[in-house]
Amino acid sequence: MVMKLGQNTDCYTLHNVAKTYDLREVLRVDDLTLHTGEIFALVGPSGAGKSTLLRLLAFLEQPDEGVVTWQDRPIDGVWPDLESRRRVTMVFQQPRLLKRTVIENIGYGLQLRGQDVTKHDRLQSLAADLGISDLLDQKAHKLSGGEQQRVALARALILSPEVLILDEPTSNLDPQNVALVEKMIKRENETRGTTVIMVTHNVFQAKRIAHRTALILNGRLQEVADTASFFDNPRSEETRKFISGEIVY
Ligand SMILES: Nc1ncnc2c1ncn2[C@@H]1O[C@H](COP(=O)(O)OP(=O)(O)O)[C@@H](O)[C@H]1O
Ligand SMILES: [Mg+2]
Repeated sequence: MVMKLGQNTDCYTLHNVAKTYDLREVLRVDDLTLHTGEIFALVGPSGAGKSTLLRLLAFLEQPDEGVVTWQDRPIDGVWPDLESRRRVTMVFQQPRLLKRTVIENIGYGLQLRGQDVTKHDRLQSLAADLGISDLLDQKAHKLSGGEQQRVALARALILSPEVLILDEPTSNLDPQNVALVEKMIKRENETRGTTVIMVTHNVFQAKRIAHRTALILNGRLQEVADTASFFDNPRSEETRKFISGEIVY
């Protein structure tokens, strides 16, 4: 983990957080701290509340109870301001791309910030690393799901966010592209110190790249642990069942 001297090591803290949809509580987190510079993986069956938690961290929703703080300040609708919000980028599981070319899509966030993607020195190398160099002039919405997923990742990475939030970033990818994307995530974390918070349906992906892994079931965190302990020495029986495939997802 890259940690600069004097850097705050708490990126997010959640305390007594709950989220309710249509009178149904779908998420409850008593206490959770996410560290600056870590890769944090969240695993759990479908419907467990993973995406809901990510949306709270990405400032897209507010909890109905409790407090989420980012960089020591409570998120309250006024804070973070736009400039701070731009330091956190989320890539959705089903990315919504514009009906424009791939290069225009990758440049979209930059354009909002008044920059020109064609002048960006990282564009070509990012595209090459993600295997989408040949697609830059194609219409993004006509690409396959896996290609779109990589375009969405490029669109996020080119912004060099401090926090990268990824919702099942490899769910539509073949094994070769899964490896490409995992390598990119690790490199981004190691070279820039980017905090990565990712949901994955693949526990082995968490094992390969995360520093810490958490299991969520029915809206509640069952275990949050160093990835090695999570897999080799789980404290919770639910975790043991999940990693051995006894809980289906
Ligand atoms: N906007 C919403 N309105 C109503 N229910 C929702 C909404 N978003 C999520 N839910 C429900 O909350 C639960 C958790 O959803 P989600 O966080 O998407 O789970 P996961 O990402 O783990 O599959 C699910 O039962 C889902 O149907
Ligand atoms: Mg989800």
